[in-house]
Amino acid sequence: MNLIKKMLAAHAAVLALWAVSAQAATNDEIAARLKPVGEVCVQGQECKGVAAVAAAAGGGAKTPDDIITAHCGACHTAGVLGAPKIGDGAAWKARADKEGGLDGLLAKAISGVNAMPPKGTCADCTDADLKATIKKMSGL
Ligand code: HEC
Repeated sequence: MNLIKKMLAAHAAVLALWAVSAQAATNDEIAARLKPVGEVCVQGQECKGVAAVAAAAGGGAKTPDDIITAHCGACHTAGVLGAPKIGDGAAWKARADKEGGLDGLLAKAISGVNAMPPKGTCADCTDADLKATIKKMSGL
C-alpha cells in the first residue's frame, strides 16, 4: 500500500466518524425540539406536556378576551346565524330583558339555544368564565 492510499483511507475514516457524530448531534437536537409536543400522555398519569401547555396558557385561567377569541367570536363577531353581535348593546339588552337579566342569558349560554351551542363550544369554561364573557360581549 502506498502512502497516498493510506492517507486517503485515514481521511475516509475521519470523515466517516465526523459524519456519524454530526448525525448524532442532529438527532439529539431534533429529539430535544420534538420532545414537548411528542410526549405521550397516559390517562390517569401526570402529563407533563399538558401541564406545560396549560401553564403557557395562563394556568387555566381564561380571560373573557381569550374565550371570545377561541370560541364565541366565531359567531358573535359577525352575528353568524342570528347571534347577537359583540357590542350591540340593544340586541343583548332585549335578550337579557326576555331571559331575566344576565343570569338568564348565562343559563341559555350553558344549555345552548337553537344555533347557539351549549357553552358556546367552550366545554371547559366555568359558569363564572361564561358570565364574564357574556358581560364583555354585551356590555351589560
Ligand atoms: C356556533 C356559533 C356560536 C358560538 C361559537 C357561540 N354562540 Fe352564542 N349564540 C349563537 C347564536 C346563533 C345565538 C342566537 C340563538 C337564538 O336566539 O336563536 C347565540 C346567542 C347567545 C346568547 C343569548 C342567548 C339568549 O337566550 O338570548 C348568549 C348569552 C350567548 N350566545 C353566549 C355565547 C358565549 C358566551 C359564547 C362563547 C363561549 C358563544 N355564545 C358562542 C351562536 C354562537
